[in-house]
Amino acid sequence: MKITSICCLGAGYVGGPTMAMIAAKCPDIDVTVADMNEARIAAWNSDELPVYEPGLDEVVASAIGRNLHFTTEIRESLAKADLIFVSVGTPTKSYGIGAGRAADLRYIEGAARLIAEVSTGHKIIVEKSTIPVKTASAIKTILSANSSEDATFEVLSNPEFLAEGTAIEDLQEPDRILIGGEITVSGNAAVEALASIYSRWVPRERIITTNLWSSELSKLVANAFLAQRISSINSISALCEATGADVDEVARAIGTDSRIGPKFLKASVGFGGSCFQKDLLNLVYLCESFGLPHVAEYWRQVVHLNDWQKTRFVEQIVRTLFNTVNGKRIAILGFAFKKDTNDTRESAAIQVCRDLLREHAHVVVYDPQVSAEQMCSDLIAAGVSEALLDSNFDVVDSPYTAAEHAHALATLTEWDEFRELDLEQIHSLMLKPAFVFDGRAILPLEKLKALGFEPFMIGKGG
Ligand code: UDX
Ligand code: ADP
Repeated sequence: MKITSICCLGAGYVGGPTMAMIAAKCPDIDVTVADMNEARIAAWNSDELPVYEPGLDEVVASAIGRNLHFTTEIRESLAKADLIFVSVGTPTKSYGIGAGRAADLRYIEGAARLIAEVSTGHKIIVEKSTIPVKTASAIKTILSANSSEDATFEVLSNPEFLAEGTAIEDLQEPDRILIGGEITVSGNAAVEALASIYSRWVPRERIITTNLWSSELSKLVANAFLAQRISSINSISALCEATGADVDEVARAIGTDSRIGPKFLKASVGFGGSCFQKDLLNLVYLCESFGLPHVAEYWRQVVHLNDWQKTRFVEQIVRTLFNTVNGKRIAILGFAFKKDTNDTRESAAIQVCRDLLREHAHVVVYDPQVSAEQMCSDLIAAGVSEALLDSNFDVVDSPYTAAEHAHALATLTEWDEFRELDLEQIHSLMLKPAFVFDGRAILPLEKLKALGFEPFMIGKGG
């Protein structure tokens, strides 16, 4: 089966960049990204893309208007496509059965119903969003129950492993492409059709094919393992602080063991992002549903440790500032969940700022990419009142402005520019003692001490 027209439902952090890369690599395939969010589509069609990602502008510019289109005309785009990526959001369910753990599949279901309604002929439907195991069979059931007689479908799972901030590199040179499909003649043909798109730029040996359920589960497990490594090193960061060890030295020492490896061993104030917590909770729910409470409890601990890491960071600040931050100005550097992205979903900064505001601190934030509106909406969603935001929360456009008359400064995102701060100037701007809480362990500890700061750094004792 030769693919000439692709539609992607959902123009988010996954759908937008992934389709831009496919369009750039396959000029003969027409790629349309469709979303009901008009503002988002307008932004994709403007000079200011809705997603900040190094290198993305160039990839989009190389294909937009040629074979890459962003549109709100969802039905038309679906109808003409041979292959449809479903890249709609799958947030954690906030109500009813499975609340707080299960994935909310209403967008996926909505997408499947819409596809069924507008389809004729044969189409390949590809799950791109991270979803619980067996979602493909739900999609298949909806498709076959709601489509016209001449419509046939093959459902594939093709999870996206890109990380934000490095999306373009990850898409350009992925460690692997995973495609799961049914082990039937038409299933194999659909897998091959999708594999032949990626093989235009990804070596064949990196394209792994499996059955549907292995592919769906592998995405959850990959994220669970990565998150587990961070919780593991974060648990050790607390022990390092207590014993005088240095967590970065421990990470380097254990990471040189080729069986352990050096990546994802950077202690932090806690992992964030749209995937890790959601996928862990999803895995927990799945294990519970299949009667495996011991397995569920094992993975739940990874989330618990992450929550505790954020809580103990705030406690450290309050305790150090003589047990009260009431009315004190705390400069927060970084609000995004990691550097090189404007995404704030599940960012540790949300919980840290919320808890400091609840302690009646005056919180002043600087982040090079996150807008003040985004920060305020995140904090309101986390339970901070508008009145408290009005009286105790400010967003500024420079780290130096944030530091002016601050009692303490905390780094929460590892933006490169924070490594190059003029610390002497920061020290002169702050009230004394000038307390620094480095939630990313990126500042030069000895230099801070020499300049007269009172520094606390995640995972560094003594
Ligand atoms: C993650 C997975 O890496 C990716 O494969 C999947 O497709 C989506 O989820 P992402 O959430 O974009 O990607 O970012 P990632 O780089 O994994 O970082 C997640 C969080 O962990 C961030 O808050 C980051 O700061 C934190 N982190 C990461 C650490 O605290 N320490 C580390 O060593 C690595
Ligand atoms: P991700 O990080 O997985 O890309 P996002 O939340 O950034 O997730 O993006 C998901 C997008 O999917 C949103 O822009 C949302 O408007 C869109 N979406 C959800 N349901 C539908 C649907 N039925 N049709 C089209 N777009 C949809």
